[in-house]
Amino acid sequence: MHNTRKITEDLIWIGANNRRLALFENVYPIPNGVSYNSYLLLDEKTVLFDTVDASVRHQFFENLQFALQGKPLDYIVIHHMEPDHCAELGSLLSIHPETTVVCNAQVKKMIEQFFDLNLPAEKYMLIKEGDALNTGKHMLNFISAPMVHWPEVMMTYDSLSKILFSADAFGTFGALNGNIFADEVRFEQEYLYEARRYYSNIVGKYGPQVQSVLKKAAALDIQTICPLHGFIWRNNLGFIIDKYIKWSTYEPEEKSVVIAYGSIYGNTANAAEILATELAQKGVRNIRLYDVSVTHPSYIISDAFRASALVFAAPTYNGGIFVNMDNLLRELTAHNLQNRTVAVIDNGTWAPMAGKQMKEEIAKWKNCTVLEPALSLKSSLKNEQSETLSALAETLATALK
Ligand code: FEO
Repeated sequence: MHNTRKITEDLIWIGANNRRLALFENVYPIPNGVSYNSYLLLDEKTVLFDTVDASVRHQFFENLQFALQGKPLDYIVIHHMEPDHCAELGSLLSIHPETTVVCNAQVKKMIEQFFDLNLPAEKYMLIKEGDALNTGKHMLNFISAPMVHWPEVMMTYDSLSKILFSADAFGTFGALNGNIFADEVRFEQEYLYEARRYYSNIVGKYGPQVQSVLKKAAALDIQTICPLHGFIWRNNLGFIIDKYIKWSTYEPEEKSVVIAYGSIYGNTANAAEILATELAQKGVRNIRLYDVSVTHPSYIISDAFRASALVFAAPTYNGGIFVNMDNLLRELTAHNLQNRTVAVIDNGTWAPMAGKQMKEEIAKWKNCTVLEPALSLKSSLKNEQSETLSALAETLATALK
Protein backbone atom coordinates (compact mmCIF):
# COMPACT_ATOMS: atom_id res chain seq x y z
CA MET A 1 0.00 0.00 0.00
CA HIS A 2 1.38 3.38 -0.97
CA ASN A 3 2.24 6.15 1.47
CA THR A 4 2.71 9.44 -0.36
CA ARG A 5 1.96 13.14 0.11
CA LYS A 6 1.44 15.96 -2.33
CA ILE A 7 3.83 18.89 -2.03
CA THR A 8 2.24 20.84 -4.89
CA GLU A 9 -0.40 19.87 -7.43
CA ASP A 10 2.18 18.01 -9.52
CA LEU A 11 4.98 17.16 -7.08
CA ILE A 12 4.65 14.17 -4.75
CA TRP A 13 6.78 13.01 -1.83
CA ILE A 14 7.32 9.28 -2.39
CA GLY A 15 10.04 8.68 0.22
CA ALA A 16 10.04 6.25 3.13
CA ASN A 17 11.16 5.98 6.75
CA ASN A 18 13.47 3.57 8.52
CA ARG A 19 12.91 3.34 12.29
CA ARG A 20 14.94 0.16 12.78
CA LEU A 21 18.36 1.26 11.62
CA ALA A 22 20.66 1.75 14.62
CA LEU A 23 23.49 3.66 12.92
CA PHE A 24 23.27 6.01 9.95
CA GLU A 25 26.31 5.43 7.71
CA ASN A 26 27.10 2.73 10.30
CA VAL A 27 28.43 5.58 12.48
CA TYR A 28 25.70 7.89 13.79
CA PRO A 29 23.02 6.71 16.23
CA ILE A 30 19.52 7.51 14.97
CA PRO A 31 17.21 6.63 17.88
CA ASN A 32 14.33 8.31 16.06
CA GLY A 33 15.06 6.75 12.68
CA VAL A 34 15.67 8.54 9.41
CA SER A 35 13.71 9.38 6.29
CA TYR A 36 14.92 8.85 2.76
CA ASN A 37 13.10 11.40 0.64
CA SER A 38 12.35 10.93 -3.02
CA TYR A 39 10.13 13.15 -5.16
CA LEU A 40 8.12 12.60 -8.31
CA LEU A 41 7.23 15.46 -10.66
CA LEU A 42 4.21 14.79 -12.89
CA ASP A 43 4.71 17.24 -15.73
CA GLU A 44 4.29 16.45 -19.45
CA LYS A 45 7.44 14.45 -18.78
CA THR A 46 7.65 12.62 -15.47
CA VAL A 47 10.74 13.14 -13.32
CA LEU A 48 11.95 11.18 -10.31
CA PHE A 49 14.39 12.99 -8.05
CA ASP A 50 16.66 10.34 -6.47
CA THR A 51 15.72 6.91 -5.14
CA VAL A 52 16.08 5.66 -1.55
CA ASP A 53 18.10 3.39 0.70
CA ALA A 54 17.77 -0.33 -0.02
CA SER A 55 16.19 -0.90 3.41
CA VAL A 56 13.00 0.95 2.40
CA ARG A 57 12.80 -0.17 -1.23
CA HIS A 58 9.44 -1.92 -0.98
CA GLN A 59 7.64 1.17 0.28
CA PHE A 60 9.41 3.32 -2.29
CA PHE A 61 8.44 1.18 -5.27
CA GLU A 62 4.82 0.98 -4.10
CA ASN A 63 4.81 4.77 -3.77
CA LEU A 64 6.36 5.25 -7.19
CA GLN A 65 3.93 2.91 -8.89
CA PHE A 66 0.96 4.62 -7.26
CA ALA A 67 2.17 8.14 -7.97
CA LEU A 68 2.96 7.44 -11.63
CA GLN A 69 -0.65 6.39 -12.28
CA GLY A 70 0.46 4.12 -15.10
CA LYS A 71 2.55 6.78 -16.84
CA PRO A 72 6.07 6.02 -18.04
CA LEU A 73 8.94 7.40 -15.97
CA ASP A 74 10.78 9.67 -18.35
CA TYR A 75 13.69 10.83 -16.20
CA ILE A 76 15.51 10.10 -13.00
CA VAL A 77 17.63 12.99 -11.78
CA ILE A 78 20.49 11.78 -9.58
CA HIS A 79 21.68 14.49 -7.22
CA HIS A 80 23.93 12.37 -5.04
CA MET A 81 25.47 8.92 -5.49
CA GLU A 82 25.70 7.92 -1.83
CA PRO A 83 23.87 4.59 -1.60
CA ASP A 84 21.29 5.92 0.87
CA HIS A 85 19.82 7.67 -2.21
CA CYS A 86 20.91 5.69 -5.23
CA ALA A 87 20.86 2.10 -4.00
CA GLU A 88 17.74 1.31 -6.01
CA LEU A 89 18.92 2.69 -9.34
CA GLY A 90 19.45 -0.76 -10.86
CA SER A 91 16.03 -2.04 -9.74
CA LEU A 92 14.42 1.17 -10.93
CA LEU A 93 15.89 0.87 -14.41
CA SER A 94 14.79 -2.75 -14.70
CA ILE A 95 11.22 -1.83 -13.74
CA HIS A 96 11.36 1.31 -15.92
CA PRO A 97 13.62 0.59 -18.91
CA GLU A 98 12.16 3.70 -20.57
CA THR A 99 13.83 6.03 -18.06
CA THR A 100 16.70 8.36 -18.96
CA VAL A 101 19.32 8.98 -16.27
CA VAL A 102 19.95 12.70 -15.82
CA CYS A 103 23.25 13.29 -14.06
CA ASN A 104 26.67 14.86 -14.31
CA ALA A 105 29.83 13.12 -15.51
CA GLN A 106 31.05 12.43 -11.98
CA VAL A 107 27.75 10.74 -11.08
CA LYS A 108 28.03 8.59 -14.22
CA LYS A 109 31.52 7.51 -13.16
CA MET A 110 30.23 6.62 -9.68
CA ILE A 111 27.31 4.65 -11.18
CA GLU A 112 29.88 2.58 -13.04
CA GLN A 113 31.93 2.16 -9.84
CA PHE A 114 29.01 1.14 -7.61
CA PHE A 115 27.07 -1.00 -10.09
CA ASP A 116 27.59 -3.29 -13.05
CA LEU A 117 24.68 -1.89 -15.01
CA ASN A 118 26.63 -1.33 -18.25
CA LEU A 119 24.20 1.37 -19.33
CA PRO A 120 24.61 2.48 -22.96
CA ALA A 121 25.62 6.09 -23.52
CA GLU A 122 22.16 6.98 -24.87
CA LYS A 123 20.66 6.02 -21.51
CA TYR A 124 22.30 9.10 -19.99
CA MET A 125 21.50 12.77 -20.31
CA LEU A 126 24.71 14.31 -19.04
CA ILE A 127 24.24 17.71 -17.48
CA LYS A 128 26.41 20.29 -15.79
CA GLU A 129 26.02 23.50 -13.81
CA GLY A 130 23.86 25.98 -15.68
CA ASP A 131 22.12 23.37 -17.85
CA ALA A 132 18.34 23.16 -17.79
CA LEU A 133 15.71 20.55 -18.62
CA ASN A 134 12.28 21.54 -19.86
CA THR A 135 9.71 18.95 -18.78
CA GLY A 136 6.64 20.70 -20.19
CA LYS A 137 5.54 23.43 -17.83
CA HIS A 138 8.53 23.14 -15.53
CA MET A 139 12.10 24.19 -16.16
CA LEU A 140 14.66 22.31 -14.07
CA ASN A 141 17.90 24.21 -13.57
CA PHE A 142 20.94 22.27 -12.41
CA ILE A 143 23.29 23.64 -9.79
CA SER A 144 26.63 22.13 -8.88
CA ALA A 145 27.11 21.61 -5.12
CA PRO A 146 30.45 19.82 -4.76
CA MET A 147 31.25 18.41 -1.29
CA VAL A 148 27.74 18.94 0.03
CA HIS A 149 28.33 16.21 0.86
CA TRP A 150 30.29 14.34 -1.87
CA PRO A 151 32.11 15.83 -4.89
CA GLU A 152 29.48 14.83 -7.46
CA VAL A 153 26.50 16.47 -5.72
CA MET A 154 24.07 18.52 -7.80
CA MET A 155 20.95 20.40 -6.77
CA THR A 156 17.96 21.24 -8.95
CA TYR A 157 15.98 24.46 -8.95
CA ASP A 158 12.50 24.24 -10.43
CA SER A 159 11.92 27.81 -11.59
CA LEU A 160 8.17 27.34 -12.11
CA SER A 161 7.39 26.04 -8.61
CA LYS A 162 10.37 27.87 -7.04
CA ILE A 163 11.49 24.66 -5.40
CA LEU A 164 15.09 23.79 -4.58
CA PHE A 165 15.88 20.08 -4.46
CA SER A 166 18.80 20.45 -2.08
CA ALA A 167 20.26 16.91 -1.85
CA ASP A 168 21.76 16.30 1.62
CA ALA A 169 21.70 20.02 2.49
CA PHE A 170 18.93 21.04 4.92
CA GLY A 171 18.51 17.41 5.98
CA THR A 172 17.46 16.30 9.45
CA PHE A 173 17.92 13.01 11.30
CA GLY A 174 14.69 11.39 12.44
CA ALA A 175 11.94 9.56 10.60
CA LEU A 176 8.99 11.63 9.42
CA ASN A 177 5.71 11.08 11.25
CA GLY A 178 3.09 11.89 8.65
CA ASN A 179 4.08 15.53 8.98
CA ILE A 180 6.60 15.98 6.20
CA PHE A 181 6.74 19.80 6.37
CA ALA A 182 8.82 21.61 8.98
CA ASP A 183 5.88 23.96 9.62
CA GLU A 184 3.73 21.01 10.71
CA VAL A 185 5.86 20.29 13.79
CA ARG A 186 7.55 22.17 16.66
CA PHE A 187 10.77 22.16 14.64
CA GLU A 188 12.89 24.47 16.77
CA GLN A 189 11.98 22.76 20.04
CA GLU A 190 11.89 19.15 18.89
CA TYR A 191 13.96 18.76 15.73
CA LEU A 192 16.51 21.55 15.42
CA TYR A 193 19.09 19.58 17.43
CA GLU A 194 18.77 16.71 14.94
CA ALA A 195 19.15 19.09 11.99
CA ARG A 196 22.26 20.48 13.66
CA ARG A 197 23.62 17.01 14.43
CA TYR A 198 22.98 15.98 10.83
CA TYR A 199 24.65 19.11 9.43
CA SER A 200 27.64 19.21 11.76
CA ASN A 201 28.51 15.54 11.44
CA ILE A 202 27.69 14.89 7.78
CA VAL A 203 28.53 18.19 6.11
CA GLY A 204 30.25 20.17 8.92
CA LYS A 205 33.74 19.70 7.51
CA TYR A 206 32.75 21.44 4.27
CA GLY A 207 31.69 24.88 5.49
CA PRO A 208 33.27 26.86 2.60
CA GLN A 209 31.58 24.63 0.03
CA VAL A 210 28.23 25.04 1.80
CA GLN A 211 28.72 28.83 1.77
CA SER A 212 29.39 28.75 -1.95
CA VAL A 213 26.07 26.93 -2.57
CA LEU A 214 24.26 29.32 -0.20
CA LYS A 215 25.56 32.20 -2.34
CA LYS A 216 24.15 30.57 -5.48
CA ALA A 217 20.85 29.92 -3.69
CA ALA A 218 20.64 33.55 -2.57
CA ALA A 219 20.33 34.57 -6.23
CA LEU A 220 17.21 32.39 -6.66
CA ASP A 221 13.64 32.95 -5.55
CA ILE A 222 13.26 29.81 -3.43
CA GLN A 223 9.91 29.18 -1.78
CA THR A 224 10.31 25.49 -0.95
CA ILE A 225 13.32 23.37 -0.06
CA CYS A 226 13.07 19.61 -0.63
CA PRO A 227 16.00 17.81 1.01
CA LEU A 228 16.86 14.12 0.86
CA HIS A 229 16.35 13.56 4.62
CA GLY A 230 13.82 15.01 7.02
CA PHE A 231 11.40 17.87 6.66
CA ILE A 232 10.47 19.91 3.60
CA TRP A 233 10.69 23.67 4.13
CA ARG A 234 7.90 25.82 2.65
CA ASN A 235 7.60 28.48 5.39
CA ASN A 236 10.10 30.52 7.35
CA LEU A 237 13.01 29.43 5.14
CA GLY A 238 15.05 32.23 6.67
CA PHE A 239 15.18 30.30 9.95
CA ILE A 240 16.99 27.26 8.58
CA ILE A 241 19.06 29.29 6.09
CA ASP A 242 20.28 31.46 8.97
CA LYS A 243 21.33 28.31 10.84
CA TYR A 244 23.19 27.11 7.75
CA ILE A 245 24.98 30.45 7.45
CA LYS A 246 26.12 30.17 11.08
CA TRP A 247 27.09 26.50 10.90
CA SER A 248 28.95 26.83 7.60
CA THR A 249 30.92 29.85 8.83
CA TYR A 250 31.59 28.08 12.16
CA GLU A 251 29.96 30.93 14.08
CA PRO A 252 28.37 29.78 17.34
CA GLU A 253 24.60 30.02 17.63
CA GLU A 254 24.73 31.25 21.20
CA LYS A 255 27.02 32.35 23.97
CA SER A 256 27.03 29.27 26.11
CA VAL A 257 29.33 26.52 27.37
CA VAL A 258 29.53 22.85 26.48
CA ILE A 259 31.58 20.75 28.90
CA ALA A 260 32.73 17.32 27.76
CA TYR A 261 34.51 15.15 30.27
CA GLY A 262 36.07 11.73 30.37
CA SER A 263 36.29 10.23 33.82
CA ILE A 264 37.37 6.78 34.94
CA TYR A 265 36.39 6.86 38.62
CA GLY A 266 34.41 10.09 38.82
CA ASN A 267 37.07 12.56 39.94
CA THR A 268 37.35 14.43 36.65
CA ALA A 269 33.56 14.34 36.38
CA ASN A 270 33.35 15.97 39.81
CA ALA A 271 35.46 18.95 38.68
CA ALA A 272 33.37 19.29 35.51
CA GLU A 273 30.10 19.23 37.47
CA ILE A 274 31.33 21.87 39.92
CA LEU A 275 32.52 24.06 37.05
CA ALA A 276 29.06 23.83 35.44
CA THR A 277 27.42 24.93 38.70
CA GLU A 278 29.81 27.87 39.06
CA LEU A 279 29.16 28.92 35.47
CA ALA A 280 25.42 28.77 36.06
CA GLN A 281 25.82 30.90 39.17
CA LYS A 282 27.65 33.45 37.06
CA GLY A 283 24.67 33.64 34.72
CA VAL A 284 25.73 31.29 31.92
CA ARG A 285 22.68 29.61 30.38
CA ASN A 286 22.01 26.50 28.32
CA ILE A 287 25.14 24.79 29.62
CA ARG A 288 25.46 21.17 28.53
CA LEU A 289 27.63 18.62 30.30
CA TYR A 290 28.56 15.37 28.52
CA ASP A 291 30.32 12.23 29.69
CA VAL A 292 32.29 11.21 26.59
CA SER A 293 32.01 7.55 27.60
CA VAL A 294 28.22 7.77 27.65
CA THR A 295 27.28 10.14 24.84
CA HIS A 296 28.09 9.40 21.21
CA PRO A 297 30.52 12.02 19.85
CA SER A 298 28.03 13.06 17.15
CA TYR A 299 25.86 14.71 19.83
CA ILE A 300 28.81 16.53 21.39
CA ILE A 301 30.13 17.67 17.99
CA SER A 302 26.67 19.01 17.23
CA ASP A 303 26.48 20.93 20.49
CA ALA A 304 30.00 22.25 19.91
CA PHE A 305 28.63 23.85 16.71
CA ARG A 306 25.96 25.53 18.90
CA ALA A 307 27.95 26.94 21.82
CA SER A 308 30.68 29.58 21.82
CA ALA A 309 32.81 28.05 24.59
CA LEU A 310 33.95 24.48 25.12
CA VAL A 311 35.58 22.79 28.09
CA PHE A 312 37.33 19.46 27.73
CA ALA A 313 38.22 17.58 30.92
CA ALA A 314 40.03 14.24 30.84
CA PRO A 315 42.60 12.09 32.61
CA THR A 316 45.80 10.66 31.22
CA TYR A 317 45.39 7.13 29.89
CA ASN A 318 48.09 4.90 28.40
CA GLY A 319 50.42 7.90 28.49
CA GLY A 320 47.98 9.89 26.34
CA ILE A 321 44.47 11.31 26.40
CA PHE A 322 41.62 9.21 27.85
CA VAL A 323 40.50 7.21 24.85
CA ASN A 324 36.97 8.55 24.30
CA MET A 325 38.15 12.15 24.75
CA ASP A 326 41.03 11.49 22.36
CA ASN A 327 38.48 10.33 19.79
CA LEU A 328 36.17 13.32 20.38
CA LEU A 329 38.97 15.87 19.94
CA ARG A 330 40.18 14.23 16.73
CA GLU A 331 36.61 14.18 15.44
CA LEU A 332 36.27 17.89 16.16
CA THR A 333 39.51 18.47 14.25
CA ALA A 334 38.13 16.41 11.34
CA HIS A 335 34.91 18.44 11.36
CA ASN A 336 36.84 21.68 11.05
CA LEU A 337 35.44 23.33 14.19
CA GLN A 338 36.63 26.94 14.52
CA ASN A 339 36.10 30.22 16.35
CA ARG A 340 35.61 28.92 19.87
CA THR A 341 36.85 29.75 23.35
CA VAL A 342 38.29 26.58 24.83
CA ALA A 343 39.40 25.48 28.29
CA VAL A 344 41.16 22.28 29.26
CA ILE A 345 41.04 20.42 32.55
CA ASP A 346 43.38 17.48 32.89
CA ASN A 347 43.89 14.81 35.51
CA GLY A 348 46.86 12.56 36.14
CA THR A 349 47.89 10.43 39.09
CA TRP A 350 51.56 9.77 38.31
CA ALA A 351 52.67 10.96 34.84
CA PRO A 352 50.10 13.51 33.57
CA MET A 353 50.18 13.89 29.78
CA ALA A 354 46.54 14.51 28.82
CA GLY A 355 46.53 18.31 29.26
CA LYS A 356 49.52 18.88 26.99
CA GLN A 357 48.24 16.49 24.33
CA MET A 358 44.69 17.87 24.41
CA LYS A 359 46.06 21.37 23.83
CA GLU A 360 48.19 20.08 20.94
CA GLU A 361 45.07 18.69 19.27
CA ILE A 362 43.04 21.85 19.93
CA ALA A 363 45.90 23.95 18.49
CA LYS A 364 44.91 22.50 15.09
CA TRP A 365 41.55 24.31 15.24
CA LYS A 366 41.38 27.70 13.52
CA ASN A 367 40.79 30.81 15.58
CA CYS A 368 40.29 29.09 18.92
CA THR A 369 41.51 30.70 22.13
CA VAL A 370 42.65 28.30 24.83
CA LEU A 371 42.15 29.88 28.25
CA GLU A 372 44.98 29.90 30.77
CA PRO A 373 45.62 29.00 33.47
CA ALA A 374 44.00 25.64 32.95
CA LEU A 375 42.99 23.45 35.84
CA SER A 376 45.20 20.43 36.51
CA LEU A 377 44.06 17.72 38.88
CA LYS A 378 46.30 15.21 40.60
CA SER A 379 43.89 12.28 41.05
CA SER A 380 41.08 14.46 42.42
CA LEU A 381 39.96 18.06 42.89
CA LYS A 382 41.18 19.48 46.25
CA ASN A 383 39.69 22.27 48.34
CA GLU A 384 42.79 24.38 47.76
CA GLN A 385 42.04 24.28 44.00
CA SER A 386 38.60 25.82 44.40
CA GLU A 387 39.99 29.29 43.68
CA THR A 388 41.59 28.08 40.44
CA LEU A 389 38.32 26.47 39.41
CA SER A 390 36.38 29.64 40.27
CA ALA A 391 38.90 31.70 38.31
CA LEU A 392 38.39 29.44 35.30
CA ALA A 393 34.61 29.84 35.63
CA GLU A 394 35.05 33.62 35.85
CA THR A 395 37.33 33.73 32.78
CA LEU A 396 34.87 31.61 30.82
CA ALA A 397 31.87 33.66 31.89
CA THR A 398 33.71 36.86 30.99
CA ALA A 399 34.70 35.44 27.61
CA LEU A 400 31.01 34.94 26.81
CA LYS A 401 30.17 38.60 27.35
FE1 FEO B 1 22.11 11.19 2.54
FE2 FEO B 1 25.35 11.93 1.68
O1 FEO B 1 23.78 10.93 1.70
